[in-house]
Amino acid sequence: MTNTPRQSPGFFIAFEGGDSAGKSTQAGRLARELESQGHTVVRTREPGGTEIGEKLRSLVLEHGHGHIDARTEALIFAASRAAHVHQVILPALERGDVVICDRYIDSSVAYQGVGRGLGAASVLDINLWAVEGLRPDLTVLLDVDPFEGRGRRTSTAEAEDRMESEPDSFHEQIRAAFRERAASDPSQYLVLDASEPVDLLAAAIAGAVKERLA
Ligand code: TYD
Repeated sequence: MTNTPRQSPGFFIAFEGGDSAGKSTQAGRLARELESQGHTVVRTREPGGTEIGEKLRSLVLEHGHGHIDARTEALIFAASRAAHVHQVILPALERGDVVICDRYIDSSVAYQGVGRGLGAASVLDINLWAVEGLRPDLTVLLDVDPFEGRGRRTSTAEAEDRMESEPDSFHEQIRAAFRERAASDPSQYLVLDASEPVDLLAAAIAGAVKERLA
């Protein structure tokens, strides 16, 4: 994937990976680390990050809204992302902030494009249209074995959402799709084994980001 150079001075980092890969923990650690170095950090997540995005999030993730077909699902994620980019991410990058986002376009490519069978290329296209081509400066992929991810979830009290409750075979496809995205453009990705100790992962991520921010 080729990146169109962006004019804004900020830096955009996306965290990607299967469910329960530990993305939020690592995004939080990185945000604190960068803030301690004097950066202004905007930490956000998808779906969500705006008022409309949070509404779309509950619509698409909570059970109880009736059947949602795959194209509708893909467009809801893309609509949430369009709002998020235009209302939150681009303004932050224009101010020169570091944006740390839990999930971005690769999640749609993996879950809707591959998992739901809509096709990786078409899902990438509708999303690039939605965000006017905005791509992360770095994507951190926390690669997780779906079996392990499910194990981490069942050890917490929270009920599984619509995606999490899909079978392991669905999550295997998601994992492969993320790895394929990363392999297609290695310079834009940091791929880490999510089963490594939290401190080790945090240090690797902080090191890679520091290098790019320098
Ligand atoms: P979330 O609670 O954020 O899960 P996690 O902590 O694992 O990131 O739920 C987001 C869910 O939505 C997750 O199962 C992946 C799914 N999703 C998509 O299917 N497509 C998308 O474009 C995005 C952003 C998320």
